[in-house]
Amino acid sequence: MKPVLVLLVSTAWTLTGAQYYYQGLMDYLENRLLAIEDRMQLWHDQTHRYHTELLDFKKLTAESMDGLKQEHGMLLKDLEGAAVRVGRVEREMDFVESQTSPRACVNKADKVVEQGAWALEESRGEEEEEDDWEELHSQVSDCVEIISNIRSVKILKRVGSPKGMWVRDPRSSKLYVFNGTVGDIIYEFDSVREFSRSPGVTNSRRISLPSEWTGTGSTVYNGYLYYINQEAETDVQVVKFDLLSDSVTDSAMLPLESHATVYNLNPETVADLTADDEGLWLLYASSDSEPNISLAKMDPATLDIEQIWDTRCPRENAEAAFVVCGTVYVVYNTRLASRSRVQCVFDVNDIVISEEAPLLYFPRRYGAHASLKYNPEEKQLYGWDDGYQIIYRLTMKRKLLV
Ligand SMILES: *[C@@H]1O[C@H](CO)[C@@H](O)[C@H](O)[C@H]1NC(C)=O
Ligand SMILES: *[C@@H]1O[C@H](CO)[C@@H](O)[C@H](O)[C@H]1NC(C)=O
Repeated sequence: MKPVLVLLVSTAWTLTGAQYYYQGLMDYLENRLLAIEDRMQLWHDQTHRYHTELLDFKKLTAESMDGLKQEHGMLLKDLEGAAVRVGRVEREMDFVESQTSPRACVNKADKVVEQGAWALEESRGEEEEEDDWEELHSQVSDCVEIISNIRSVKILKRVGSPKGMWVRDPRSSKLYVFNGTVGDIIYEFDSVREFSRSPGVTNSRRISLPSEWTGTGSTVYNGYLYYINQEAETDVQVVKFDLLSDSVTDSAMLPLESHATVYNLNPETVADLTADDEGLWLLYASSDSEPNISLAKMDPATLDIEQIWDTRCPRENAEAAFVVCGTVYVVYNTRLASRSRVQCVFDVNDIVISEEAPLLYFPRRYGAHASLKYNPEEKQLYGWDDGYQIIYRLTMKRKLLV
């Protein structure tokens, strides 16, 4: 009997122990479940809140977008208005510029190399007397005029490529057209009128040259064509070609160390020639490291270089340049073509002083000048602008000999 009792007691004890154990487990699980439920409720609340917030945000964005759209429309209208006003201001600027001529930067002549007959005095200080000026100007340049204004513009026609050049022989009045920036063909017209009437270049005499011209640096004077020929990188020469007999009469190497271009905005042009009664002028860059434009005076008969100057006019942003009465006028622009202006002036005789050099603005045009060729007889510039042939008529005034 006793063992049975013991077994019963021990079984009851075991059962009670197990019960406790399971009860504890149940409590624990229940608590965990409650906690999880709480958290789920929390998540649910949060999700709901996020959702609501998202909806609000969406509504807000839609409203802002509407507002932005309206403002954009208003902005567009304002911009159109501003464009009209800018156009008006530009026209007014044109007018004001034509009325008042501000000053361009003028650099004094700095003689670098002296050759042949040009034995000029060494010192040319500020205190020099009038007699010396007279003497100097009669030696290098006989004319005493500077540009005071651009009087009028004539757009003649549009022939050929965006870049090119046209030039009129001041002696023979014949006109020469160079299409593009390289070639061995040029077109000769008897007059500007003939060119103007011609459909394309059909009314012209087609001249084949024995070698290629490069860039827009050629010029024609007294029946001779002077052109820049660049066969190899280092071998740049000027060729003199007789337009009556169609033959080369002379050629000479140019004093270039590299093929650095003279005008930063027209990189095809390594050197630029311009001829007048004073002689033959050459604008060039002496080397890659030289930031300024150099000027040389050449003998048009022999192609000898007589004298060299550093104009101190930068090559950077230069578009073209021309020489009038021994004074170099450098035309500047920006890479995105805006308005061209003469912003640097250099007088080989040191006569033009800052106070009288005008800051000339060219009237609004199509693109950028590929070339500007001065004709001393007519006192006008032959410009090539985005394929258009344009004539600028200039007003001159006497240099102040003070
Ligand atoms: C000028 O050159 C361009 C490009 O080389 C050519 O398309 C055009 O026909 C030429 N125009 C004339 C008039 O020679
Ligand atoms: C180039 O010209 C500027 C003036 O415009 C001058 O200050 C500078 O020294 C010149 N540079 C050289 C290398 O001649």
